[in-house]
Amino acid sequence: MQWFPQIKKVKWMKRENSMDNDMKNKNNATDPIIEVSAPAQEISPKKCIGVEHSDPCTIVIVGASGDLTARKLVPALFNLYLNDGLPDSFRIVGCGRTKLNDQQFRGKMEKSLMAKGLMDDAKWQAFSDVLHYRSVDYGDLGSFINLAKFLRKLDQKHNTQGNKIFYLALPPSLYKPVAQMLGQAGLSEERENGNGWSRLVIEKPFGRDLKTAVELNQSIQRYFKEHQMFRIDHYLAKETVQNVLMFRFANAIFEPLWNRRYIEHVNILASETLGVEHRAGYYEQAGVIRDMFQNHMMQLLALTAMEAPSQFETGRVRDEKVKVFRSLRPFPVEKLNEYIVLGQYGPGKINGKPVPGYREEPGINPDSLTLTFAKMKVFIDNWRWQGVPFFLTSGKRLAKKITEITIQFKEIPHSMFRQILGERIDTNQLTLGIYPDEKVTLTFQTKNPGARVCLRSVNMDFSYHQNYTGPILDAYEKVLIDCMLGDQMLFWRQDSLEHCWSFLTPILNECETCDNKSEMLHFYESGSWGPRTISRI
Ligand code: BG6
Repeated sequence: MQWFPQIKKVKWMKRENSMDNDMKNKNNATDPIIEVSAPAQEISPKKCIGVEHSDPCTIVIVGASGDLTARKLVPALFNLYLNDGLPDSFRIVGCGRTKLNDQQFRGKMEKSLMAKGLMDDAKWQAFSDVLHYRSVDYGDLGSFINLAKFLRKLDQKHNTQGNKIFYLALPPSLYKPVAQMLGQAGLSEERENGNGWSRLVIEKPFGRDLKTAVELNQSIQRYFKEHQMFRIDHYLAKETVQNVLMFRFANAIFEPLWNRRYIEHVNILASETLGVEHRAGYYEQAGVIRDMFQNHMMQLLALTAMEAPSQFETGRVRDEKVKVFRSLRPFPVEKLNEYIVLGQYGPGKINGKPVPGYREEPGINPDSLTLTFAKMKVFIDNWRWQGVPFFLTSGKRLAKKITEITIQFKEIPHSMFRQILGERIDTNQLTLGIYPDEKVTLTFQTKNPGARVCLRSVNMDFSYHQNYTGPILDAYEKVLIDCMLGDQMLFWRQDSLEHCWSFLTPILNECETCDNKSEMLHFYESGSWGPRTISRI
């Protein structure tokens, strides 16, 4: 697994900080009193796991006339190029139903980079030469055979050694037919007929439930085997998410406390201020459980709860995650109300501005029962976690955008201050902040200065980027580098996916088909912290 790509220049392009103004004002429960500095030294290269550039390759973006390519993929590739993060022999081929020639495709990408303020005129010319475009008809094998011929020629001309990545930037309904077409055109074959390696990158959602996820996998695996499949979860590519394992397993002081003896409960929160935006078609079908829980929330849970693998190695890390998913206690469907709160946002205010309710958003059914909020109480049935609730909460149009994991420790077993202070002593809390504060915060008690005996809660903070001046990769850059290197650690493996679907599908069945669906759904005001019933569980 590569954490810091071996990049010759360290002139990483500065990215806009998209932090909400609102979040800049986020108040902590207690202000930071003590600030702990990381040693002011450059990270020694010996302490970074890295490799030289990946093999030469061609990345084929299927669905390249869509939004994702211009908004995320090409900017990420361009930034990697600017920082010498791409292999020496490298090509990008956009494919899509829209008819474009190379020049038109390049023009479109240039416009988008300019709009994002990412353009570097001097470098664009050379980069744009690696961009090509081919129109394909997703239902026509002939057009994929032509694509294969084109790729073969490109490979011979630019010496990309027959290595190919197929990035499906497509609606999920096209994953299966397109993967099949690629397979039938011989593009999934590896190390034969002039091919090098071949990899398939798929965005979520991978299926709608257990049955469809298994079916989709079976049909794709007729051509692409598990080692060729890269199922993306962009949360895993976030630096601070990756840091969870480092923090837990590279320090001796936390791990002994990381269990049912000392931990009261764990909160995992991913709240958003955004609404459904322009994604009505997708979101009406998905809702918050498929959109956030089946992927990001489950990965945060696994990283928090998993055992230490014997080595930091892809297969072993993924094995430990599967064990967590296998130990999830199934929800008692007959008592769902005690474990889950579900909601949908109504009208309200975000950052002081009025916003419509979900049902009034463009493209949304005015009677929609789609969930935009869920809070779940989850238990992991193993020795470490028996009886410790994990509260997972995620929703749209909430008061602030916050992503964080909070470990709530138990109360001290006995307070010797009870007679003097006559009050409950606040418990320790450890917060792993992912957004907007990329930091680790430990809350503990100290004596208030002065003659009187009284306690106060203070925070000890470590800010993730403190004293670090090196390159920072955005999530898509990280994902693309790992695909090129063939490192699957930050991608979903099919067995994990199936265990998570088995866990969540009964809730979906219950919530989507039951007679009292509308009774289970609680409306909440946009800009609030969710339904009033949130504290029920
Ligand atoms: C995506 C979901 O996977 O994650 C979106 O489809 C959500 O609905 C987004 O807004 C949140 O990601 P982030 O990185 O902004 O927390």
